[in-house]
Amino acid sequence: MAKLDISPIKFESDRLLLLDQTRLPGEEVFIEIETQEDIYDAIKKLKVRGAPAIGVAAALGLWKSVDWTINDRKKLALDFHEKADYIASSRPTAVNLEWAINRMCRVFDDTAFGVGNDKLRDVLRTEAVSIMEEDIKASKKMGEYGLSLLKEGMGILTHCNAGTIATTKYGTCLAPVHLAKEKGMKIKVFADETRPLLQGARLTAWELDKAGIDVTLICDNMAATVMSQGKIDAVVVGCDRMAANGDGANKIGTMGVAILAKEYGIPFYMFVPTSTIDLNTKTGADIPIEERDGEEIYKMWYAKDMAPKGIKTFNPAFDVTPAKYITAVVTERGIAYPPYEESLKKLVEQE
Ligand code: MRU
Repeated sequence: MAKLDISPIKFESDRLLLLDQTRLPGEEVFIEIETQEDIYDAIKKLKVRGAPAIGVAAALGLWKSVDWTINDRKKLALDFHEKADYIASSRPTAVNLEWAINRMCRVFDDTAFGVGNDKLRDVLRTEAVSIMEEDIKASKKMGEYGLSLLKEGMGILTHCNAGTIATTKYGTCLAPVHLAKEKGMKIKVFADETRPLLQGARLTAWELDKAGIDVTLICDNMAATVMSQGKIDAVVVGCDRMAANGDGANKIGTMGVAILAKEYGIPFYMFVPTSTIDLNTKTGADIPIEERDGEEIYKMWYAKDMAPKGIKTFNPAFDVTPAKYITAVVTERGIAYPPYEESLKKLVEQE
């Protein structure tokens, strides 16, 4: 991308650094990850967030946290698998987390008993770096496929942040927007603020503004208004886990946007790398939905409590948009259309 050359994950000379996204937009600070607690905490507290970025950071974080000096192979295997399970338990909805950890575990199990420690450490390092490089390639491809759906002068609504900082680079649903900018196309983006954690306000508005893209911040409850005023030609969002039938879990509030888009006849595009498609999960009803601390709703980003202390809360972090509201699914292998049972399976199983 021309203007925005920022990656939330730096892996240089075997040091793992993550952009602490809880400090954006005010400060651009990288934190170093060394232990299993560091990576667990970074994922749990959304210092690194967005499904693809979580998967990449988890694989590299696992590699960093393993004690490669353990000589006894059974003890090393125990250390590896215990840490893998612990890191995988940090957040439940984004399937990229378990997908990346499972990839690391498979490679460990296939290699562990045939080679020495240094070689094993190298093989696992290569796997983690491959996961990162594949993510960059996938995001770039999604940008190209996504661009084919956009036209000069369009108004785009997005929810949460599925941009550069939700992946290793480029983003999923914002990748075509960055690419459009690079090609000199004029696209106007409306960013939902995305309560309660404000990924739209803190991250999407920051990322697009920094890239010189025309972005207008709105509150979540203004989406119907901008749609009814004819300002929106397409909705683009990311995804944390897509079930085999095309139901897609994404940041809480996405489903409402999809229902509104249907009402106003606006295409709703979900950007889903194949690492986020979970054919083992049949429908959206089977997707585990993370529930977070209710204080995030009224305390976290405010100087004073914005609700009576101890008020009863319900704070699901994601919702599931039924497949019937999704016009198309953009992947790095092409664009899938309904019926999704067939089109997604074909894309995932294609080499
Ligand atoms: O809680 P978050 O910030 O990790 O939620 C992120 C989202 O919902 C994104 O839209 C999704 O992970 C796709 S990121 C390319």
